[in-house]
Amino acid sequence: MGASAQHEAIAKSFDIAWVREQFPSLELQVNGQPAAFLDGPAGTQVPRQVIDAVQNYFLEANSNTYGAFLTSRRTNQVISTARAAMADLFNCTPDEVVFGQNMTTITFDLSRAVGRELEAGDEILLTTLDHDANFSPWAALAEKGVVIRKVDIRESDCTLDLDDLKAKLCSKTKLVAVGYASNIVGTINPVAEITRLAHAAGAITYIDAVHYAPHGPIDVKALDCDFLVCSPYKFFGPHMGVLYGKKPLLERFKPYKVRPATDTVPECWETGTQVQELIAGIQAAVEYLAELGRRSDGSAKTRRAALLAAYRSTVAYERALAAKLIEGLLALPGLRFFGITDAQRFHERCSTVSFRLKKGTPTELAAFLGDRGIFTWDGNFYALNFTERVGVEALGGVLRVGLVHYNTAAEVDRLLAALAEFLAA
Ligand SMILES: Cc1ncc(COP(=O)(O)O)c(C=O)c1O
Repeated sequence: MGASAQHEAIAKSFDIAWVREQFPSLELQVNGQPAAFLDGPAGTQVPRQVIDAVQNYFLEANSNTYGAFLTSRRTNQVISTARAAMADLFNCTPDEVVFGQNMTTITFDLSRAVGRELEAGDEILLTTLDHDANFSPWAALAEKGVVIRKVDIRESDCTLDLDDLKAKLCSKTKLVAVGYASNIVGTINPVAEITRLAHAAGAITYIDAVHYAPHGPIDVKALDCDFLVCSPYKFFGPHMGVLYGKKPLLERFKPYKVRPATDTVPECWETGTQVQELIAGIQAAVEYLAELGRRSDGSAKTRRAALLAAYRSTVAYERALAAKLIEGLLALPGLRFFGITDAQRFHERCSTVSFRLKKGTPTELAAFLGDRGIFTWDGNFYALNFTERVGVEALGGVLRVGLVHYNTAAEVDRLLAALAEFLAA
């Protein structure tokens, strides 16, 4: 069966019409054409439930926390309900969930706190595949004499070189910071195995799950990672970041904070007033995913079970859609593709693909597609170590197409036709 036929078979059991109805912004038109949102890796669209939750917060709960009156009590309720929702998404307890402005800010905060315990000569292991937000905050600890080591990639398939990782891990390594999935080439890293290796060397792990979260289920217990961070705006929620930390570690490391603020975990990590209306939106994003899961598996009893059911259906749908896209791209003459192309290995990648055409720059191509209502990204997407390593940073990087579960086979066909038109022009 070809990739298109396979996608059709899987798509039959996925209620894409219901999914798309939940996202009002998918109705947007560009020059008389429906917009094709293939820009998800930089931020996804949000379902109506999220928009309503943010609005309702302002209408019914708008206040600050811990006051002795209705709206303040409601605000506390909104935050604790959202913490419980994220705990179900992560598979942890609510007091291991920390809200923050975004992943980058959370990582700078945590790296400073971890850095308080580090000494000159201690080592941190980072990677060539990671977004810079999981690189620079840790690399800044070199100011204290901390030694920064970088794990290389295998250029042929853009996967992490685990032999290099093993060679660089040693008793001096205090922390390994690694992405769950690459936001530029879609590679899913073996983070459970990396965590096991790190722990055996006496190091803790900090997992950047920002790119992975819209594409696959997270289970921090199964991973046994020490910290994991994601950004709800990448998985159908508002612009914020959320951190999971093992409770003993959230208690051990000391955040920089103001004196009157609580010392209690997890709130001591949430500096200043939070964006409470968006925290309400995070809870709604998780509920949306759970609803999707209940629709695909009516037997899901708990919200966690419903979330796992949602991911089972979206993983299958996205994988088949990505197979169709990759097959179509590889048929284009002179295309340079970055990442895994072997369909037998698609469980090692998510539906984010990057490439360069033999003609034009990624910026020119993105503009050509944008004029036709097809939204893609060009550049390095802050995966700067990667674009430098594969020699495309000075050439304008790559064109990135990101598929999520609200995208369709028709959008992939439109993209492929537009690429052929660009090449022929
Ligand atoms: C893999 C990855 N990590 C980290 C970030 C930074 O996230 P934030 O925008 O929440 O700071 C991004 C954003 O694109 C990302 O894709």
